Amino acid sequence: MKHKLFALIGLMATVSSIHATDPLKFDPDNYELKSLTMPDGAKIEYKAYEGIYYVKNIEDSAYQTLNLYVPLDRKDRPDEKTPILMRNNVGGYMASPAGTPSVADATGRALSEGFILCIPGARGNGSTVTDNGVTVSTGIAPNGLLDLKAATRYLHYNDNLIPGNSNLIFTDGTSAGGAMSALQGATGDVRDYEPYLKKMGAADASDAVFASICYCPITDLNHADMEYEWLYGCTNTGVRHLDAAQIAVSDELAAQCPAYINSLNLKDTNGNSVTADNYMDFLKTFIMASAHKALEEGCEIPDTIGIVRYQKPRPTFAQRLGSAPVNGGMPAGRPVMEGGAPRKTEYTDYVTDVDWVKYLSYVATQTPLKTPPAFDAYGVLGASATPENRVFGNTEGTPSNFTEYSLRKHTGNDKATLSPELQNRIKLMNPMDFIGDTVRKGTAEHWYIRHGAKDRDTSFLVPVNLATKLSNAGYDVNFFIPWNRPHSGDYNLDDLFNWIQETIR
Ligand code: DHB
Repeated sequence: MKHKLFALIGLMATVSSIHATDPLKFDPDNYELKSLTMPDGAKIEYKAYEGIYYVKNIEDSAYQTLNLYVPLDRKDRPDEKTPILMRNNVGGYMASPAGTPSVADATGRALSEGFILCIPGARGNGSTVTDNGVTVSTGIAPNGLLDLKAATRYLHYNDNLIPGNSNLIFTDGTSAGGAMSALQGATGDVRDYEPYLKKMGAADASDAVFASICYCPITDLNHADMEYEWLYGCTNTGVRHLDAAQIAVSDELAAQCPAYINSLNLKDTNGNSVTADNYMDFLKTFIMASAHKALEEGCEIPDTIGIVRYQKPRPTFAQRLGSAPVNGGMPAGRPVMEGGAPRKTEYTDYVTDVDWVKYLSYVATQTPLKTPPAFDAYGVLGASATPENRVFGNTEGTPSNFTEYSLRKHTGNDKATLSPELQNRIKLMNPMDFIGDTVRKGTAEHWYIRHGAKDRDTSFLVPVNLATKLSNAGYDVNFFIPWNRPHSGDYNLDDLFNWIQETIR
């Protein structure tokens, strides 16, 4: 009996010394107290755990850390109900160090809601280390994504030590960061990433997340050029002012798009097939819904930009008193009276159509369009490398094409092909490839996707296809194209946080 007890004590000592030396174990006592003052004057105090390495085999110590924030007032929410907002600061596919909370965006708001906040750093364009005198680019695809996955694993691995519930992780990012958030949502626990994560010394835990928040995701990169030209080609000789060589490239890219659209087998909400033939009508429904909501909220939309409306005549005085038919025979019925006047929505115009040439030309006047190819431009018509070319480049810092089309234009070799190694990296960076026909365990259950109605950084097809594919597969998708929004994120935080609260209710 006695020697059994000693054996047990010995075993416990070994286990605890493994833990004591486990570099991925979270230390709840190693924090600083910090605070933020919100715009309404409320002071949020929180424990700040900063500069935590989330992998064992650190390649780039400047970026492979996370910051974690735990508000002191967690609003008495039991821990299993406390979500974790995992916000990335990736932009332009650039490397981003671990971030700190800000009152101006979702990070401060998350703390004020009593959520746990994690802002990991990630390698990306521009991150380098020097190895034996040689400069090595550490941020080539898919390394930035692998870092965010490793940070997610850290949260799961330490679920019992970190307040909040690692089964309620909401990823959040904008633009390239929106793409990263979409990838985290779509590729949770996918085995293809396992060998890389193992090599990095990521925690042996899940990298799945509960929900993915994607603002204007710059994603589906290997199809984004054709989608851009298919949509915006109608402006080539107008506001876009392309020259003949550019128009030829635009036309060739656009011609590839219908086959891609058809290959997605998308369905609208009534279950009807969405094909290249009816796609523009499908897309119209999103722009019309956006304009309609804006009008309802009292926004003025100029008549010149292609939002076609049926304008209801203003009710006459007699009509407003209820003694004469209203609306010139339109079906909306009598005006709803509010404070002696018909409610504003009773004046709302019906959006009946979108004149695409006018609307897309309007978008192009807000921010000039990218020239073709919009993403894989490297070496085509003499263009230099884009952020996307750099992220698909090699560790020596040489950018790379990532579509056969641009590779062939660049090299002048019409038989050139992408290497299998590069093809694999391109696949690992495209969330569309991981969304099947049905719900997969490991993919985020909930999605919040936004793309501004005047955002031309990528084609509207990109977020619409992402949202539709997810919705068709059975995920919970909240997608909207907010009116008058340019390429930006973290707006309308009330809407976002109401949605978050609904998903965890
Ligand atoms: C971003 C914007 C782009 O237009 C692009 O091609 C890639 C990234 C960004 O803002 O992150």
